Amino acid sequence: MMLDMVSEKSKRAKAAVPAAQDHDAPEANTADQGGVLALGGVEAFYGSFRAVNNVSLEVQPRAVTALIGPSGCGKSTLLRTINRMHETIPGATVKGSITLDGIDLYDADVDAVRVRRVIGMVFQKPNPFPTMSIYENVAAGLRLLGRTPKSEMDGVVESSLRRAALWDEVKEKLKQPGTSLSGGQQQRLCIARAIAVQPRVLLMDEPCSALDPVATLKIEELIRELAADYTIVIVTHNMQQASRVSDSTAFFSMDENRAGYLVEAGPTPMIFTSPKESLTESYVAGRFG
Ligand SMILES: Nc1ncnc2c1ncn2[C@@H]1O[C@H](COP(=O)(O)OP(=O)(O)OP(=O)(O)O)[C@@H](O)[C@H]1O
Ligand SMILES: [Mg+2]
Repeated sequence: MMLDMVSEKSKRAKAAVPAAQDHDAPEANTADQGGVLALGGVEAFYGSFRAVNNVSLEVQPRAVTALIGPSGCGKSTLLRTINRMHETIPGATVKGSITLDGIDLYDADVDAVRVRRVIGMVFQKPNPFPTMSIYENVAAGLRLLGRTPKSEMDGVVESSLRRAALWDEVKEKLKQPGTSLSGGQQQRLCIARAIAVQPRVLLMDEPCSALDPVATLKIEELIRELAADYTIVIVTHNMQQASRVSDSTAFFSMDENRAGYLVEAGPTPMIFTSPKESLTESYVAGRFG
C-alpha cells in the first residue's frame, strides 16, 4: 500500500516513473517501515507575525518526542504545521520543509486532507464528536474514507478501542454518546478515533492537561505502548511527564520578537540532566517559563 497522501492524478503520473524514483512510502505500520519526520528550516506565520523561526529537527520513528518550552514559544503552532492544520487558519503560512519518509508534505502533489489522516492529532481538551456514539466516534474517519466494508467496521472499531486501552470500559455501551464518558476515557476515545484510520504519526498537544493524575498516568502508559508502532510528538508543560514518556526532547524558547526557536534537542535524559545550553538547564530546573 502507498502512503496515500499524493493525489490520484499524480499517482498515475508516478506509475510511469521507475520504482526506484518513486518516493511514496508504504502505509502499514509494521516494525521496519519508516515514519521519520524531518523538519528543515520551518517558519510559521500568522499574517506578518513570525511565531516559529527556523526550526530544523529530525523526529525519530516509533519513539516519543516531547516539545517543551514556555507558553507562547510556538509549540502548538509548530505541531500544526506538521499535519498541515496551520494553513487552515486565515492568514497563516508556513515556510521551510517538512518530510515524512522523504515525502515533502507541502509538495504541490500532496493532498493536505490525506496528510491529516496519515498524521493524526489529539488535542488538549478531549473533543469527541458530540452527537455521535462511542462506536461512531471511532468509525467516523473510516466512514469518511468510505473504504471499510460494513462487515469489517466492528472489528476495526474494537481493535482501535483495544489499542487505546478503552475497550473493556466501553464494550457494553458502544451506542452511548462519546460525551457520556469521563474526561480520561474521552481522551482515549479520541486516541482510538485517531488510530482507527491507521496513521503513521500521532501529534498530541498537551493531551493530559485537562485530566486528573490517574487518567494522566493511563494516557502516559498508552503513549508508551503506542510508541511501538507510531511516531509520536507530544507537547507538554509537565516536565515529569516529558521525562517519563519521551525518548527525545526538543526545547524551544522565544527571541526578542517573540518568535519561537529551537534551543536544543536530544535524548530526554541528556536534556534533563546535562543539556548543552544554560537556557535549557534553567527551564528544566523550573527557573523560568
Ligand atoms: N490563531 C492565531 N492567530 C494569531 N496568532 C496566534 C494564533 N495562534 C497562536 N498565535 C500566536 O503565536 C505564538 C505561538 O503560539 P502557540 O499557541 O503556538 O504557543 P505555545 O508554545 O503552544 O503556547 P502554550 O504553551 O501557551 O500552549 C503566540 O505569540 C501566539 O499569540
Ligand atoms: Mg500550545
